[in-house]
Amino acid sequence: MKPRTIYAALLCLSVALTAATACKPAEPEEIYHIVTTICEDASSAVTVNYHCSGSKSYVLVAKADDVAFRKAKKVKPVCRTWSTVGIENTATESTFYTKERYVCNATLTGLEADTRYIYKIVAGKTETDARQFKTAGQQGPWSFVAFTDFQHRENPVTLPLVQMMKEMFSPDLVVCSGDHIDVAGNEYEWSFILDNDIFRDFVYAASPGDHAYWACDKVNGGYPQYDKPYTFVNLFKFPDNGSPTSPGSSYYFYYNNVLFVALDMNNSDVASGSRFDEEAVWFRETMERLQGTYQYLVVFMHKSVYGSDLVDPAVARNIRPQWAPLFQEYQVDLVLSGHDHIFSRTNAMEGGTFYLDMGSSGDKKRRPDSTMWENTARYAKVIDLIDEEISCACHVEVDDTCLNVTVYDQNRQVVDSFRIPRKGGN
Ligand SMILES: [Fe+2]
Repeated sequence: MKPRTIYAALLCLSVALTAATACKPAEPEEIYHIVTTICEDASSAVTVNYHCSGSKSYVLVAKADDVAFRKAKKVKPVCRTWSTVGIENTATESTFYTKERYVCNATLTGLEADTRYIYKIVAGKTETDARQFKTAGQQGPWSFVAFTDFQHRENPVTLPLVQMMKEMFSPDLVVCSGDHIDVAGNEYEWSFILDNDIFRDFVYAASPGDHAYWACDKVNGGYPQYDKPYTFVNLFKFPDNGSPTSPGSSYYFYYNNVLFVALDMNNSDVASGSRFDEEAVWFRETMERLQGTYQYLVVFMHKSVYGSDLVDPAVARNIRPQWAPLFQEYQVDLVLSGHDHIFSRTNAMEGGTFYLDMGSSGDKKRRPDSTMWENTARYAKVIDLIDEEISCACHVEVDDTCLNVTVYDQNRQVVDSFRIPRKGGN
């Protein structure tokens, strides 16, 4: 080839490459981990949480009958870049570590009570499909659904169980007492719960489980821990009204006539100490301040105050003596929990409090301790989830006279039900 021809060929190539680069469409923005979370007053606000590859995104929100979003309101989120780089013990192979992203929280305020809304998220040319939620504020009976310990990824139980409860009850509010995942530092474990067509279209509230502190896979026979539930608080923005030592992982909110309180019970090794003490002080102050503003008081927390004495002995040793007297004093109606992977439900304890360890909404289960069967003074119901081959989900109906609690297995069978009468004075 003559030099001139080579030159011409190179010139053509270079022009072609430049043109190709110039015309190359921008990478579509990624929007993922979309969750609608509860605000302090669930009748007027919710928060839309998501992670996004780009810095410029927004939420369009409209009444549910405005399906074309004609009268939609545009809400800009609060966004910040985030990854787990720099966090002690975190999993360096996880995409939480390798892929910095924008964590976005759009709090939709000024919503009408008892109203269904739709929203979609827009970032560049990417637009999500429409999701929906309904605000609180309805008069008369209502209900919510509760889960615990979905825990391990790709288990065959969790998503069908959530789907089943949605089909049965169309819940506007779903709560979970923790342990969404095994290792909180592994992003793909969270994706299993959050990024699918089942885990959506309700308002969500959760307390962190001890596994929200698990930083990475096993090292030298143990699981290194986070000192804070970093990934949990970057996936879910919950009300900013909690204990100063557990911000975003302890909080309260009103839903119709119920005051809900979420507690952070820390990691697998810690069941006492200053963070618990501070949280107990916050709980007491909050209860004093909010007295008379609700008909029922529901606490959700990961570790079970009256669960197994053996699975995690520190719970009976430390958490029970610290928290049971507080729940008694403030006459908590229902405490929802998990952690042991054993199903147990107490009689009404002092103060009229019922404790429900929902066992497992996944497939990790343990057998009850032999002593639990005989302890009829404490337990009204104990179930061997392994023998019965069941996992559990809970439906709570609320009216002016009582909470009606019904626990279902994955086959729509009722495995436990009990009634909590409304206490005088509430
Ligand atoms: Fe668990």
